[in-house]
Amino acid sequence: MKFLAIGALLLSTVGAMATEHIIKGASIIPAKDKGALKKIGAHGQKYADRRTVTIRSSKSDTDDIADDFLWGMKAANHGGRLVLQKGKKYVIGKKLDLSFLDNIEVQLEGELKFTDDIEYWQKNNFYYAFQKSITFWVWGGQDIKIFGKGTLNGNGQAWYNGFAGLEILDSTNTYYRPILFLTDNATRVSVEGITQLNSPCWTNFFVRTNDVSFDDVFINAYSTNASALPKNTDGFDSLNVDGLSVTNTRVDIGDDCFSPKPNTTNIFVQNLWCNNTHGVSMGSIGQYPGVEDIIENAWIENVTLLNGQNGARIKAWAGPDVGFGRVNNVTYKNIHVENTDAPIVLDQCYFNINATTCAEYPSAVNFTNIKFENVYGTSSGKNGKVVADLTCSPDAVCSGITLADIDIASPSGSPSVVTCDGIDGDVGVECQSSSA
Ligand SMILES: *[C@@H]1O[C@H](CO)[C@@H](O)[C@H](O)[C@H]1NC(C)=O
Ligand SMILES: *[C@@H]1O[C@H](CO)[C@@H](O)[C@H](O)[C@H]1NC(C)=O
Ligand SMILES: *[C@@H]1O[C@H](CO)[C@@H](O)[C@H](O)[C@H]1NC(C)=O
Ligand SMILES: *[C@@H]1O[C@H](CO)[C@@H](O)[C@H](O)[C@H]1NC(C)=O
Ligand SMILES: *[C@@H]1O[C@H](CO)[C@@H](O)[C@H](O)[C@H]1NC(C)=O
Ligand SMILES: *[C@@H]1O[C@H](CO)[C@@H](O)[C@H](O)[C@H]1NC(C)=O
Ligand SMILES: *[C@@H]1O[C@H](CO)[C@@H](O)[C@H](O)[C@H]1NC(C)=O
Ligand SMILES: *[C@@H]1O[C@H](CO)[C@@H](O)[C@H](O)[C@H]1NC(C)=O
Repeated sequence: MKFLAIGALLLSTVGAMATEHIIKGASIIPAKDKGALKKIGAHGQKYADRRTVTIRSSKSDTDDIADDFLWGMKAANHGGRLVLQKGKKYVIGKKLDLSFLDNIEVQLEGELKFTDDIEYWQKNNFYYAFQKSITFWVWGGQDIKIFGKGTLNGNGQAWYNGFAGLEILDSTNTYYRPILFLTDNATRVSVEGITQLNSPCWTNFFVRTNDVSFDDVFINAYSTNASALPKNTDGFDSLNVDGLSVTNTRVDIGDDCFSPKPNTTNIFVQNLWCNNTHGVSMGSIGQYPGVEDIIENAWIENVTLLNGQNGARIKAWAGPDVGFGRVNNVTYKNIHVENTDAPIVLDQCYFNINATTCAEYPSAVNFTNIKFENVYGTSSGKNGKVVADLTCSPDAVCSGITLADIDIASPSGSPSVVTCDGIDGDVGVECQSSSA
């Protein structure tokens, strides 16, 4: 109530907002009111203080504040900040178009949580043809910053239960699940400090977006139902993105840890920790007939990968009805794997096709200038002594592939083995054919 009065005072002096009334339970605090900012936990050394907006919080998991949130984002747009306070929960039960953003900060200290009304979300969402993706909301525009110690909660359990036994890449699947955070047509997006919890599907998907950075983020998906584990809860995916940086981040989920997809360029990853994941994967790309996909210029350094299916992997589609493209100039350096099924993988025979079909319809995605440097630790032994499996399509270009300082022990015995098939030139380590 107190802030209402302050807000009203501000509104009378700020021309642009003078016509906008403050909705119930909300407030707008002027940047110079340090005392009021401090009271709501918004005043900090690290960030310049801004016109700061608060909205009412939810009283229960079904108390939908989507309208308040949308109002808050509009009120904070053009130079302000929306604060979601510590200890408070904000429940979103309606799809939101946030494509209008321009110079905004969202300080997330509390919990921003989606309803798990599956029937509603499967009818009301934003749809992307790429891998039939849907999302609760779309963030677009420029200079968007999300920071704080709070949680963005996808409330995934009901989705995990509902999807049990289904497969996302099954062409007949129509049980779509929302992505937790999606940007489209955005420039300069930064996310810092927050936790992203239990996404129903992929956690982050950036589309037509430039200059994204994530720092100090924790991504976690878990199920309390042993017969319905989280699926396809990838940490990071991208499509048509230039400039993607992920640093000092931890990911504990059941699918790809970090996985840029078609047309992602200038990728930087440093100090990433992945538990129980399908690894740091470039791709898959080359999925759609007649479509050219590129992944280029990626630097991946100091990554720890525990208890996963893959470590460092590059994957491209092959088969009778696929696309083309290239993965070029990728460096994986200082990669620590433990208990990982397939620590190093080049796969030009994705997805689910056998060697005969792959040879008949080879991938048309080139893999060039790919370095794996100082990859160490242990495999799980699932693939016997094989710790690196480099399989190129017979007809595709696969060149400039180098391995150096590979020291991965397999519990199945030593020495551990690197297999190579269809690769041009010397990879720098002893390598045998998988059929040997
Ligand atoms: C992308 O956003 C800009 C403004 O930032 C807008 O002018 C343009 O129409 C948008 N493009 C698409 C395809 O939505
Ligand atoms: C766990 O998931 C299975 C598979 O969907 C479902 O049949 C079962 O009801 C779920 N258990 C609980 C406690 O929700
Ligand atoms: C590597 O990343 C880990 C986090 O996974 C961090 O603790 C460690 O300090 C980093 N090492 C270097 C040399 O930066
Ligand atoms: C990593 O995952 C394993 C399960 O595979 C779990 O037991 C362990 O606690 C996780 N490690 C951390 C540090 O969270
Ligand atoms: C990748 O970029 C190419 C060239 O601009 C474009 O033709 C193709 O459609 C893009 N791929 C996807 C999946 O959007
Ligand atoms: C390869 O990618 C790195 C970034 O990882 C970049 O600095 C370098 O310029 C690229 N090399 C070429 C030849 O483009
Ligand atoms: C793949 O390599 C072949 C042979 O060098 C080249 O002709 C083709 O343009 C390359 N494809 C792409 C998408 O770079
Ligand atoms: C490989 O897959 C194709 C297409 O599914 C199938 O027709 C063929 O029998 C398979 N070949 C082998 C050797 O399994």
